[in-house]
This record gives sequence, C-alpha cells and structure tokens, in this order.
Amino acid sequence: MQVPYNYLDRQFADVEDYFQDLRKLVATGEFTLGPFVEAFEKKFAAYVGAKHAIGTNTGTGALILSLKAVGVGPGKEVITVANTFIATVGAIVAAGGRPVFVDCDDRYQIDVSAIERAITVNTAAILPVHWAGAPPDMDRILEIANRRGIPVVEDACQAVGAKINGRCAGTFGKTGTFSMHPIKPLNVWGDGGIIVTDDDKIAKFLRLYRNHGMVDRDHIEIWGVNDRLQPFQAVVGSRVLDTVEGLIEKRIHNAGLLDDGLKGLEAKISRPQRLAGHREVYQLYLVTTKRRDEFVRFLISRGIEAKVHYPIPIHLQNAARDLGYKRGDFPVCERQSDEVVTLPAHQYITGEQIAYILAVIREFYAE
Ligand SMILES: Cc1ncc(COP(=O)(O)O)c(C=O)c1O
Repeated sequence: MQVPYNYLDRQFADVEDYFQDLRKLVATGEFTLGPFVEAFEKKFAAYVGAKHAIGTNTGTGALILSLKAVGVGPGKEVITVANTFIATVGAIVAAGGRPVFVDCDDRYQIDVSAIERAITVNTAAILPVHWAGAPPDMDRILEIANRRGIPVVEDACQAVGAKINGRCAGTFGKTGTFSMHPIKPLNVWGDGGIIVTDDDKIAKFLRLYRNHGMVDRDHIEIWGVNDRLQPFQAVVGSRVLDTVEGLIEKRIHNAGLLDDGLKGLEAKISRPQRLAGHREVYQLYLVTTKRRDEFVRFLISRGIEAKVHYPIPIHLQNAARDLGYKRGDFPVCERQSDEVVTLPAHQYITGEQIAYILAVIREFYAE
C-alpha cells in the first residue's frame, strides 16, 4: 500500500466552481487588491474572530510586515523558539532584527519558562510559533509579554483553525500570521499569506506598507513594499475557506486514530501531550523515537511517506553562525531533531491507510 504525503491533486480534483468564480474576477479586471481581496480578508477575519485581516504574498511576508509593525528593526531582538521552520527566523533577520532563541518543550512548543531569561532591554517582540498546528501556552506567554510591555507576534502559519478554549490561534498577539502555501489546508494555488489584528493603527500601517505606502496613486504616506495578496488567490482562498473546517476535522480524526493506535508503544515511540481545551490541527503529526533514521527508512520502504521536520535545528545551521549559538544550547530541541518523525495524517488518508501505518510501525518494533 502507498501512503503519500502530498494530496493537492485530490484537493483540487474538481475545479469547475473555482473557474466560475475566477471568470467573474477576470471580467472585472481588478487584478491588484480591490473588492475580491477585500471580500476574502473580511471572510478570513470573521473565520478567526479578528477585527482586521490583511492579505500578503506569503506567510513569510506576513511575519516580516508584522515585525516591522511592532517596531522590530536594527538593534532590536526578537525571542522565538529554536525548532521552527526557517521562515520564522529569516523574517526576523529580514525585518532588521536579531533572533534570540529559547528551547522547546516536550509538546514541541516554545518553553515558556525560558522566555523571561531571554528578555533584554533590546527585546522588541516575542514570536511564539504554533508549531505543527498545536498552540503553545499563549496565556503564560501573554502574561509575561504584558507584564514586560513587549508585543507578541504569533506565527500561526501552520495553524489555521487551531484554538485554545474556542479562541483561534493568531488572535492572541498584537498580530497573528498565517501561510496559505500549497501544503496548508487553506491554500491558494501558490504562495499566499495573511495577517490578523484587532489593532486599528497596526492594520492601517500594514495596509499601507504592503502597498508601497500608497494612500492613493498620488500620495505616499510611508516607505513601503509590494507584498500584496493576488486577487485570483483571494478568489480561490474564499472557496477553500468554505471547506477548511471539514478538512481540519478529517485531520483531527486521523490524528486521533494514530494516537489511539500508538497507545501501548509509549516505551518506543512518544506522542506529545494533548492539552484539554486545545484544538490542534495537525499540520504535522509528530512523534519521537530513538532509532529515527532507521524507522523512517523502514516506513518509506513500505510505501509510507514519513518526513523529518527538521533534522538540523536552526541555531546549528550555517545561516545562524553569526548568532553565536552552539550544540548543547537547546538540548530538548536538539534531541527532537535527532528523534522527530512526521507521519502522514492529512485529510485524504483513509482509515485503511492509518491501519496500515500502525501495522508497519508495530512490525518495526517487533523486530
Ligand atoms: C512555522 C512557519 N512559519 C512561517 C512559514 C512561512 O510561510 P510561507 O511559506 O507562506 O512563506 C511557514 C511555512 O510553512 C511555517 O511553517
């Protein structure tokens, strides 16, 4: 049996409705920002429960713009977690800031107890990541941030639809950022990003900055860039958003089957704790195991496309050499990078495929 990681051909097997919508867009000629982008932004804001949503080119752009909006620039530091996708950290550098890492915990989320020690007079933002689609402890992060007067920018790029006690990921900080890259359930036929905020001033800045700082064609209020969401992508995103809850529920169902099936194997393969009140959306279904590379090779040899997110922690990447970190600085993150595995659990995986994954895992450990 084959269990592929990619599913995009199936998500868009029937595109007729999308083409109908796109015909309407093409008939208007509204190809930069305009009513289709505005309509999607409103719809997305309502979906996550935020006052404003601002579409961007990419999730990375959403992060860079957010960091600039809260005052990150040269001489400023941004605290984030060492186990994330490189874009989180690249965005800090692109905004002119310096990344300051803290370790993660056994849920693969930022170790909140380490944040306060990392704060200096130069700290301009705290950037927690909803890694794998699971929320970190946002209450404690906000408690520290509010007490110390530091803005929080959330990297919810993997976490559309994730929640803590009914409140969506991305709505806790000054801004929350999302990716609509093809591998996300809410995707827009190419790269795309979106920022949410309840802060009118920040929303105004973001709308100006992503569009050359233009108030209108003849009036430039601030220096800006071109970081706009494309209207055709807003049209696609709007239709995908109608289906996204169903896709997320299917992922949650599949993750539950894997969780149940892995019970009893705890000595060999560890699952993170699932917190009450947290809705995880399983962008990545992560486990850790001691013989990781052998395990991944075995799964792949049986047709199961397992992945590793990621084998080299960011603080040990060549790009990070100027930051002065070394092996041993973030032991939990480093251990996870040796042991972590992503199992396919997306919305198109069937019950039979999950049963097959579990059987192959049991076979590996029975050897
Ligand atoms: C945690 C995280 N942050 C940021 C990004 C960047 O998003 P994009 O690829 O849309 O630029 C991603 C993309 O996968 C991500 O997983």
